[in-house]
Amino acid sequence: ILDKKITIAIDGFSSTGKSTLAKQLAKELGYVYVDTGAMYRAIALFAMQNGYIKEDFFDKEGLVASLPTIRLQFKFNPDLGFAEMYLNEVNVEKEIRTIEVSRFVSKVAELSDVRAKLVEQQKEMGKNKGIVMDGRDIGTVVFPDAELKIFMTASAATRAQRRYDELIQKGDSVTFEEVLKNVEERDYIDTHRSNSPLVKAEDAVEIDNSHLTREEQFKAVLELIDEITKML
Ligand code: DC
Repeated sequence: ILDKKITIAIDGFSSTGKSTLAKQLAKELGYVYVDTGAMYRAIALFAMQNGYIKEDFFDKEGLVASLPTIRLQFKFNPDLGFAEMYLNEVNVEKEIRTIEVSRFVSKVAELSDVRAKLVEQQKEMGKNKGIVMDGRDIGTVVFPDAELKIFMTASAATRAQRRYDELIQKGDSVTFEEVLKNVEERDYIDTHRSNSPLVKAEDAVEIDNSHLTREEQFKAVLELIDEITKML
């Protein structure tokens, strides 16, 4: 299982536990983990910081024109055990997780120029395999040839509860209804956009984790990886 490196693509709705599973797998297998949602979030943060996006205002052309000036990097933090997102050399790991960024990120992720830039960088990061990448279009667009594709689902209420608990723990003052509304809005935009909408790749394995523990899910996926690497 460890000597043959594969590509693992994990897609699904927000807060289905994709990143938890992806991080566990990367640690177990010694693979690189890439959270592509963080990259879209960093672009949204950039757009907010530079006045390209506000409530009821979005200067798409302005943002697209400034894309070449945006440098995104993941830098591994050994204390945390995962890589943190850097936007133009600044650590933005905390800023990109706020509800404000969550509110604008789907709009930014709809732009084909944004997607083209990020997909190119993602393909480059995966060219040596040994990678676990999570997002919305990883199995369909970024790595259509991935040896393992997972599509994660869970009910909107289950996901909103998880997200709410996380935000409250971080000291954010939000209501459950606000979070649920945001989850439902993002689901709608993610599945209805014309550009790389969230769809399950035909050859993806679907995991509904509303009723699975982390450990059960992790073990099931490790077994899949074991079977796949044996056949290589
Ligand atoms: O997974 P997340 O909630 O951090 O993702 C943030 C947003 O970015 C989400 O609304 C969908 C978008 N996204 C995307 O369009 N494609 C990806 N590969 C990853 C995220």
